[in-house]
Amino acid sequence: MCSDTELAIVVDRLRAGARTTILTGAGVSAASGVPTFRGPGGLWKRHRPEELATPEAFAKDPALVWEWYDWRRQLIAACEPNRAHAVIADWSRRYPDCRLITQNVDGLHERAGAEGVIRFHGSLWEVGCWRACAGSPHRWMDRTVPFDPLPPRCPHCDAPLRPGVVWFGEGIDASVLSRSDNATACDLFLTIGTSSLVYPAAGLVQQARQRGAFTVEINPDATPLSDGVDLVLRGRAEAVLDAIEQRLAGR
Ligand code: APR
Repeated sequence: MCSDTELAIVVDRLRAGARTTILTGAGVSAASGVPTFRGPGGLWKRHRPEELATPEAFAKDPALVWEWYDWRRQLIAACEPNRAHAVIADWSRRYPDCRLITQNVDGLHERAGAEGVIRFHGSLWEVGCWRACAGSPHRWMDRTVPFDPLPPRCPHCDAPLRPGVVWFGEGIDASVLSRSDNATACDLFLTIGTSSLVYPAAGLVQQARQRGAFTVEINPDATPLSDGVDLVLRGRAEAVLDAIEQRLAGR
């Protein structure tokens, strides 16, 4: 776990009203029981992303892809937000300039009460018409668990629905990119629970640093960005964020 001196650096900046942006990855949901992608037991250790998380995979076998996403929806529906989500949600409401960008599609930040979440890779709880028919919006919320049969069908044109997530090879929504770019204009940028391997999300940290932000990585393991941030808090998000919050509350 990181030292009191290291924690105090972040506590002091938050207390001083630093405009704060937080980028999260799967590590923030690990304590909730949601599998990460690349760690021990990670999803990409058991599945090949090109077979499940690309438009080509879906076109080839929508039912197979939905078996995997429906399994994740059922698993995550049984999970609860953890202490890391709770602290981040408190900060998103307490600090007016606190913005949250998440790579996670599990919806746990929102369930913890976080406001204005920028969902960089979409949401597992949203769907869209695979044919993008004129009768359907681009994406809409559908919390049906489980879907039966698979694939679920568009109510307007009966084409398969697709998960509302960003697949490998797809671009990030333009408004999400714009909001995320704006959020890199900040005083304090916290990157929490991400392996920092997937761009353009991983590029946000250095963009913020180039714009003058003090950058902090919170992760029990090193990442390719560890040597490029101003401070590394080596620890689990739920423990480190709780420790910072305890100090902010004067405990
Ligand atoms: N607290 C903080 N970090 C943790 C914890 C924890 N309790 N447990 C694990 N981690 C760290 C791991 O050390 C790792 O660096 O979380 C990171 C998880 O990395 P990935 O599994 O690669 O997840 P992520 O970085 O979110 O992946 C980015 O890749 O597959 C795509 O779209 C997917 O959004 C995802 C993107």
